[in-house]
Amino acid sequence: MALFKQHIYKMGTYKPPLDGRDPERFTLLDFNERTVPVADEIARDIAEWVLAGRLQMYPSYGDICDQIADYCQVAAAQVMITNGSDQGIDLVFRCCCEPGSEVIVPGPSFPMYLQSAAIEAAQVHQPQYSRDRGYPLDKVLGLINAKTRVVVVSNPNNPSATSVSREAIVRLAKAAPRAAILVDECYFEYCGISVVDLVEQYPNIIVTRTFSKTWGLPSLRLGYVVSAKANIDELLKVRGPYDVNQLAIVALNSAFKHRQTIEAYIDEVMQKSKPEFEAFLDRHGLDYWPSSANFIWVFFDDAEAVEHALRAAGILVRPKDDASGRKGLRITLGTLSQTQALMQVLASVLP
Ligand SMILES: Cc1ncc(COP(=O)(O)O)c(C=O)c1O
Repeated sequence: MALFKQHIYKMGTYKPPLDGRDPERFTLLDFNERTVPVADEIARDIAEWVLAGRLQMYPSYGDICDQIADYCQVAAAQVMITNGSDQGIDLVFRCCCEPGSEVIVPGPSFPMYLQSAAIEAAQVHQPQYSRDRGYPLDKVLGLINAKTRVVVVSNPNNPSATSVSREAIVRLAKAAPRAAILVDECYFEYCGISVVDLVEQYPNIIVTRTFSKTWGLPSLRLGYVVSAKANIDELLKVRGPYDVNQLAIVALNSAFKHRQTIEAYIDEVMQKSKPEFEAFLDRHGLDYWPSSANFIWVFFDDAEAVEHALRAAGILVRPKDDASGRKGLRITLGTLSQTQALMQVLASVLP
């Protein structure tokens, strides 16, 4: 007798390629992370908390939702913290789907949407992004029907780094009033486009965000959901009372106090590293997708050879196929000196 639901046996495991990611050996441009450690002050606050003898206590979150709400310019009742934004994404699928539900997940995209949809045995539609038009808005609008329960808007999308306008998201929210419009703003601070101010006006918009990327804390797993208060009240019934660990809260309290160190990193990536790298790609006539994030999807004639050369020079990047199966390299941008080192290696291998 099978122990689990039949469809679970048919699923695959999502296993990101984590092996060998040794920051002593490699510059890690493969996971869209912050490429340097967080400021010493933040690390010190975490260490001090550990040494203060509180590990034996259950988490208690204090005013963290107020602080996040303040950061987002929304009401605290519109905010729920989660164990990474992965949990926020999963909660949306869990709470919205039932057998026979349909979901729209434009691809290629972040694999966790498909995992969460598969756990709920939802039927998935995957219209494809294109280099020139980005999000396949017309196709998504055409797929919406009475069974549609979740429409994913990854903004910006991973791996394409393309963004979706607020107007397009509003069109979706109006076109599918009975579906959750799951707007994943994981890279919001790099991109600057957000719909958190629209969540009361459009109660089917659910935004997920994270402290994993710009804020440099993926190891501590802290994300959050912003939506209408009525939605947050329901989602809170499904999230566990201690799903977010206390160290994550300690780290975020400190990160908010040292926000200028985070902002300085964003500036360096977006104002210095990225324009230099784009100019480099243009000079070499390389094909890449327009990026609204801290990473760029680049298509070389021989992606495998370039990836190997970068690895040999101590730089990791992530291969990602487009809809036609053509292999691109998704390259995270870090500090200016890391980007210059990247360009130097690329210049030595390009014809
Ligand atoms: C688009 C997107 N959403 C969500 C996540 C997950 O982030 P978190 O660490 O908050 O779970 C990622 C991570 O790569 C991502 O690229």
